[in-house]
Amino acid sequence: MSRDQKFFDMYSLVIGVLAAIALAILVLTMKLSDLTQGIYTRDAVEYQAAIAERIRPVGQVYRPGEEAEAPEPTVETVAEPEPVAAAMSGPQVYNSACIACHSTGVGGAPVLGDAAQWADRIAQGMDVLNQHAIEGYTGSAGYMPAKGGRADLSDEAIAEAVDYMVSESR
Ligand code: HEC
Repeated sequence: MSRDQKFFDMYSLVIGVLAAIALAILVLTMKLSDLTQGIYTRDAVEYQAAIAERIRPVGQVYRPGEEAEAPEPTVETVAEPEPVAAAMSGPQVYNSACIACHSTGVGGAPVLGDAAQWADRIAQGMDVLNQHAIEGYTGSAGYMPAKGGRADLSDEAIAEAVDYMVSESR
């Protein structure tokens, strides 16, 4: 036997044995996977439910008459914002809500610090001034919107601003 022939025989043997081992491992793995994965994982109820949840369609169509089956839509209620308490001082309220009209007299608004414009108004008494500022009113000079258009401000905050405006305009 030549040396080449010897090598070839040995080579074939080794390859054959390796192939047999590989095949054995493959069969063993498939058997094992059938024994474990199939029974304990893929068929498990929780596993199936999780898959169904993941691939669930985003929306669903209900034909007329089927509405009863539709789940109630959840409505998120947004709480009404609380009126800002009198935490703001008179000048702060004035600067944020009243200055637009009352600093220059827009639309006939009595100007802050102009004693002549304010004298008759102040003579009405603070109750009337507060009421006019809080509820709004239309006078001979123009239209004063309720709370200067700032419904989020509390009555107390408006009264503070009126106090400030009056004290600055005597
Ligand atoms: C959009 C413009 C405007 C804004 C903003 C505004 N006012 Fe006036 N205000 C007026 C006008 C115009 C008058 C005069 C109405 C009239 O007597 O004809 C007036 C009048 C008043 C008077 C006098 C009421 C009276 O009986 O004479 C007070 C007090 C007053 N405003 C307070 C306020 C306060 C406080 C704010 C801010 C919270 C404010 N105003 C914001 C336009 C405005």
